[in-house]
Amino acid sequence: RDDLATSLKTRPLHIIDNGFQHTACMESSITHIDGIRGTIRYRDFPIEGLFHEYVYEDIMHLIIWGSIPTQQQKDHVREAMSNAMKPPQSVKDVISSFPASIADSNHSRDAETFPMIIAGMSAFAASDSVICKTRHQQSAMFHGHLEVADEALVRTIAYLAATISLIYCHKNERQWNAPEPNRSLLGNLLLMMGITDPQVERCLAKLWILYADHEMTNSTAAVLHAGSTLIDPVSAITAGIICGYGPLHGGAIDLAYEAFRQIGTPERVPPFIERIKAKGGRLFGYGHRVYKTRDPRVALIEELLEDHREAVDANPLLRVAMAIDKYANQDAYFTERGLKANADLMGCFLYTAMGFDTDMIIAITILSRTPGALAHWRESLTQPVKLWRPQQKYVAPLAN
Ligand code: ACO
Repeated sequence: RDDLATSLKTRPLHIIDNGFQHTACMESSITHIDGIRGTIRYRDFPIEGLFHEYVYEDIMHLIIWGSIPTQQQKDHVREAMSNAMKPPQSVKDVISSFPASIADSNHSRDAETFPMIIAGMSAFAASDSVICKTRHQQSAMFHGHLEVADEALVRTIAYLAATISLIYCHKNERQWNAPEPNRSLLGNLLLMMGITDPQVERCLAKLWILYADHEMTNSTAAVLHAGSTLIDPVSAITAGIICGYGPLHGGAIDLAYEAFRQIGTPERVPPFIERIKAKGGRLFGYGHRVYKTRDPRVALIEELLEDHREAVDANPLLRVAMAIDKYANQDAYFTERGLKANADLMGCFLYTAMGFDTDMIIAITILSRTPGALAHWRESLTQPVKLWRPQQKYVAPLAN
């Protein structure tokens, strides 16, 4: 390995790997996905067992710190997070400066959540003296200083939860409630939003386990890419949030749901899918880079849908989603390419059954992934500092 590294310095090897389909950029011991067998393991525990035995708060600890937490450990994080969730006036002002809805030429639609999140996170970052200092630091501030990193990581998660809750309250003209030190991340998110139904918390405490980490996703890679510049975790997670909103990634939830609305009834599914195929378009909520079989999270989401059958069935679009899955499962275009339903196709129904609109669903899903992405950032701090800087292959002519 050392010989190879030395010889590559003098004669660089350039490999074109479009979309990083074949090259790994990190060594990690957090999550293992087997895309052929359709399995996910967090810290070597199969996701099914974790899903049935624990709630999200336990899994968040497991993913970040490597073990299921004691009550004392939970209390410690709860307190630190709830303290950091209290927004300074600058954050409240920046969120409330956005219009709650935007007048379109034909109709009025909700203001986009995503730019509001970026603004809220920036305002939080500007109010945090450690985070601000990182940007002017000339040496690695968090590498090898895991205690400082852990404090900043906990605050980063808290900032995102508070930002999302403020946006929700602003858009829905609700009163924002202050967080409490004895509540979990999820418990406080719902409290701040003013959602009091205990069934919502029970359901999300399970659903979020499925979204908690997914190894080197596009957004997690963005967090690490930004993090490799030694930037602070709030800035790094903001890079991940931007990627998380893209249509081929987390934004697919929104587009899948929009397609269900356009289709309207199960009978209209076949011509809709045929049109997508003819145009070379994408069926959102379908396909995955890693899985060549069914995404194992889909079966667990179906269990949750079963538990909330009445509320879920009240949404007529569920029948549209099921008709899409049935049609695509039997269609040669999808079967030959190994395209199956991903976790985005059905997950949105749990959220809509609980009354969230799609724009808010992406935001909340991104929050549920944030501890996972930051676990990777934390893991990177235990490895040597290395700036991420991919190669390109120059293909235009050179004059000399
Ligand atoms: N609908 C129609 N065709 C598709 C789809 C789809 N959803 N996904 C892939 N294909 C086709 C491509 O057109 C391509 O066909 P070709 O071989 O004839 O050119 C082939 O399948 C391979 O597609 P790639 O884009 O090369 O596959 P990749 O593994 O890079 O794509 C991705 C993965 C981006 C998720 C893709 O399946 C997709 O666009 N899906 C829809 C968006 C979506 O649901 N994203 C959420 C993913 S889960 C998450 O990130 C939270």
